[in-house]
Amino acid sequence: MKRVLTAVLGIAAVGVLAACGSGPAPTDGTNSGSGDSAVGGQITMGFSQVGAESGWRTANTASIQDAAKTADVDLKFSDANGEQENQISAIRSFVQQGVDVIAFSPVVRTGWDAVLLEAKNAGIPVILTDRAVDTDEPDVFKTFLGADFVREGQWAGDWVVKEYAAAPGPVNIVQLEGTTGSDPALERSKGFADAIAGDPKLNVIASQTGDFTRSGGKQVMEAFLKANPKIDLVFAQNDDMALGAMEAIEAAGKKPGQDIKIVAIDATHDGMQALADGKFNFIVECNPLLGPELMDLAKKVVAGDPVPPRVVTPDETFDQQQAAAVLPDRKY
Ligand code: AHR
Repeated sequence: MKRVLTAVLGIAAVGVLAACGSGPAPTDGTNSGSGDSAVGGQITMGFSQVGAESGWRTANTASIQDAAKTADVDLKFSDANGEQENQISAIRSFVQQGVDVIAFSPVVRTGWDAVLLEAKNAGIPVILTDRAVDTDEPDVFKTFLGADFVREGQWAGDWVVKEYAAAPGPVNIVQLEGTTGSDPALERSKGFADAIAGDPKLNVIASQTGDFTRSGGKQVMEAFLKANPKIDLVFAQNDDMALGAMEAIEAAGKKPGQDIKIVAIDATHDGMQALADGKFNFIVECNPLLGPELMDLAKKVVAGDPVPPRVVTPDETFDQQQAAAVLPDRKY
């Protein structure tokens, strides 16, 4: 049931960035922005960020901070250092300060009901950025801006299925999961598993969290290499863990991209460089540049204008040649 609300919003979205502002009107009065103090003037946004665990996150933070300046939004930015309790404290502090709108990227998917109700009861609208939450509470957030993580995992899995279509089995895959309980870890795992389920020779022989960090990916990959004499492919749920895995593979005397293939998600600059260098084999993009869209949605929400319940950011995929071609113009 808890996942149902998010799922329903996802279906309702059919959304892409271009759809913003054209979505359904709020269904009741509690779903309108707090508004009054900011109508026509500068708005204040409290933003609670997950942390600085990855290149993706760094680019996301820069996008939000730059976009706030450009949009003349007074941004109160808080870094949770990967801890849910820090995010809850930050959101409570934003409520006490009476900001016009709160946005946050939740570390994990559960455990937000109480603080979201506090914001709702204070009349402060909330925007989920990048990651979803599980909640049964109605009208505790206005919209969810971010990527379709299931689709990202599916695209990664689709590439694996094609790559090994004509190969003899078994194909031994190890998975580096993101932060346990986080929306992208749960959804990417599901999308990938669904995509490879139809080919019985594709076996995920080990799967463990590397917490979306380079050091975590390296450490877990070292253990995988020690425990498993034959690994054909690593599916890393972000570039940083893939880069850590790449180091571990090289340290073990093997060639990443050849002896052991690497598929990752994010398409940050370092990941794309590894792909162009032939050390990764495929990357699914997760665009971190959410700042401008977030500011636009925030202004609408505060003004009481309708916004779609779900705004899905567009992503693409890259093979080695495509990465080499686009690298010079990458913005992150
Ligand atoms: O929520 C997005 C994910 O979080 C990115 O893929 C990962 O790099 C980050 O830490």
